[in-house]
Amino acid sequence: MRLRTLRSGVDLFGKRVLLRIDANVPVAKGKVVDGPHGKVARAAVDIEWLRQRGAKVVVMTHLGRPNGRKISAYTVRPVARRLSELLSIDVTVARDIAGPFAQKLVRSMKNGDVVLLENVRFDAGEERNSTTLAHALAQLGDLYMNDAFAVSHRAHSSVDAITSELPSYAGPQLVSEVEVLAKVLAHPRHPFVVVMGGLKMADKIPVMRRLLPEADRVLVGGALAHAFFVADGIAIGRSAVDKDGVKDAEQLLKKFREKIWLPTDMVVAQSLRKDATCRTVTVDAVRKTDRIVDLGPETVERFSNEIRGTKMVVWNGPLGYCEVGAFSKGTTAVARAIAANKKAITIVGGGDTIPAVEAAGVADQFTLLSTGGGAMLEFLAGEKMPGVEALES
Ligand code: 3PG
Repeated sequence: MRLRTLRSGVDLFGKRVLLRIDANVPVAKGKVVDGPHGKVARAAVDIEWLRQRGAKVVVMTHLGRPNGRKISAYTVRPVARRLSELLSIDVTVARDIAGPFAQKLVRSMKNGDVVLLENVRFDAGEERNSTTLAHALAQLGDLYMNDAFAVSHRAHSSVDAITSELPSYAGPQLVSEVEVLAKVLAHPRHPFVVVMGGLKMADKIPVMRRLLPEADRVLVGGALAHAFFVADGIAIGRSAVDKDGVKDAEQLLKKFREKIWLPTDMVVAQSLRKDATCRTVTVDAVRKTDRIVDLGPETVERFSNEIRGTKMVVWNGPLGYCEVGAFSKGTTAVARAIAANKKAITIVGGGDTIPAVEAAGVADQFTLLSTGGGAMLEFLAGEKMPGVEALES
């Protein structure tokens, strides 16, 4: 798959570049929660690259799921503050998306200036892939660049319809994410281990179905494993579980039991507080009041050993309740085992996984640290990516 890029000598001096980023990150107390390898930090690298070439950079992103309504909790202002810090310039926020405020701001831009449009999902047209919205957005740019791999599985106006309105290019990060992931699908190296965590079975099942026949082993942890335990009639106490996924888990176990490794021991707690009393138990000893919060040491050892000998690893989703630092030991150990395997192609992705690998201190030690959670899974499951296909040359 060849994508059109701006690297091939397009003159950007004085041009208005409409840049789609994915700055969809958590916001706490008015500040974005985004580490040095996170989405906003990475977008800043692109913006700086464009500024250095004399472009006027008009940035678009979504934040959360406001469902076409203007909800102040989802304003992009915290993103602008973070970008301003990272770029050491004032990133101005337009009060609308492609209306009079945005138009006026963009008209007054000088080369190297950066304007951030308000949350594109405040307009109901965005998620409907509206050509009207795309047309209005196109008035703000001379060309369009998509460096938002994480949302490129969505046929949305600022990702898809816009590409019919302006000369459109793939950003450098989108290109490298697509290249590495495409290589995985086309030429898997063996032994090939998939590590899956997180909670929502609906997100993970298609990719598990697609990768299980090819993979040599699929290591399952986090709340995802609980659906498999329930399918096997194993008690999980009060642990989180995606009940809708139990049937799927049952089917996968029926077909691929040998390949799917579940935790054999785990840490259980009485609550999700960091000072909760914890015990390590074997899989058959979870009590009614327990919550499974992390992998146990024996499982960490088995998973890490398996990862050590592999030539390719794909990992998505935390393997414990990592929101509480004390429950992230299993995830940290597995992150380090993957990072330590320098012989393997290592692909790690997902909004929750990036902070986990940053906390483990190994975020820069993978072949690819993908910003895409759902997008990476859909790509690997062989689904169509409208935002990527629109940029094929
Ligand atoms: C993500 O965080 O995975 C992307 O920004 C996509 O968000 P969405 O699932 O709300 O479309």
